[in-house]
Amino acid sequence: MTDYFLNRASVRTFTDKEVEPELLDSILTRAAKAPTTGNMQLYSVIVSRNPEMRSRLAETHFNQPASKAPVILTICADFNRFTRWCELRKADAGFDNFLSFTSAMADAIIFAQQVVTVAEQEGLGTCYLGTVTYNAREISEILELPELVVPVACLAIGWPAAEGAPSERLLNSGFVHQEKYRKDSDEEILDIFKIKEDYPANAAFAAENNKENLAQVFAEVRYPRGMNEDFSVRFLELLKQKRFI
Ligand SMILES: Cc1cc2nc3c(=O)[nH]c(=O)nc-3n(C[C@H](O)[C@H](O)[C@H](O)COP(=O)(O)O)c2cc1C
Repeated sequence: MTDYFLNRASVRTFTDKEVEPELLDSILTRAAKAPTTGNMQLYSVIVSRNPEMRSRLAETHFNQPASKAPVILTICADFNRFTRWCELRKADAGFDNFLSFTSAMADAIIFAQQVVTVAEQEGLGTCYLGTVTYNAREISEILELPELVVPVACLAIGWPAAEGAPSERLLNSGFVHQEKYRKDSDEEILDIFKIKEDYPANAAFAAENNKENLAQVFAEVRYPRGMNEDFSVRFLELLKQKRFI
C-alpha cells in the first residue's frame, strides 16, 4: 500500500465537480477532532462557495491559480465566541492579548492541517493560500469578521484537475537536532540545502528569474524583504484593530 504521507502533494487546479456539502461537513467534523488548546476550539472556518464571494476573495489572493477552487475555506483564530460565552457566564475573560492570539492561531493552523489530511484522503485536492495573512484586513472586511477574529489560514479545496507533483524535502539530518541545537558549519548548511538546489524542478528557477542561485530566488524574488516588512506592519495593525494587541 502506498504511504499517503510520503506521496501527497498540493493541488492547484480543480474540476467543476461539486464538493458535496455532506462530504465537506464530514471532513470538518473529523478535522475538529484535532488537538486544541484546553479543548477551547479557538477557531472558526468560513466556507465560501458563492461565485461572487470567491471572486472577491481570489482578488485578495492575487488571483493565483489555486484561488479559483470551487471551495475556499478561510480559517480564523477566534477568541470572540469563547470570550462572549465567558461574559454571558460572568467569567472574567482576559483573552484580548498576544498570548491568546498565539493560542488561537495554533488551534486554527492545526485544524487547517487536519482538514488537509482528511480531505486529501477523501481524494480531494487542497492548497494553502499564504496570501491570507498578506491581505488579512481586506479578507476580514469581505467576511465581516468581528473583534478577536483574525484570518490565519486559507485552503483551496476541490476535485483535482491534475495531480500535484510530489516535491523535495530536507533530509531529517538537516532539521532534526539531538538534545541541543547543533551548530552547523557553513559547509554543513550548504550541504543541507543541496537536496533543494539539485532538485530538477528547482534547478531552472534561478535562470528563469535571472538570479545566480535558488536562495536568491527565495529571498529576493518570492519573499523579498520589503514585502515581508510591509505585510508585517499591515498584519500587526489588524491585530490591533481586532484587539489582540
Ligand atoms: C502556510 C502555507 C502557505 C502557502 N501558500 C501558498 C500559496 O499562496 N500559493 C500556493 O500555490 N501554494 C502555497 N502553499 C503550498 C506550498 O507551496 C507547498 O506546500 C510546498 O511547496 C510543498 O509542496 P507540497 O505541498 O506539494 O508537498 C502554502 C503552504 C503553506 C503551508
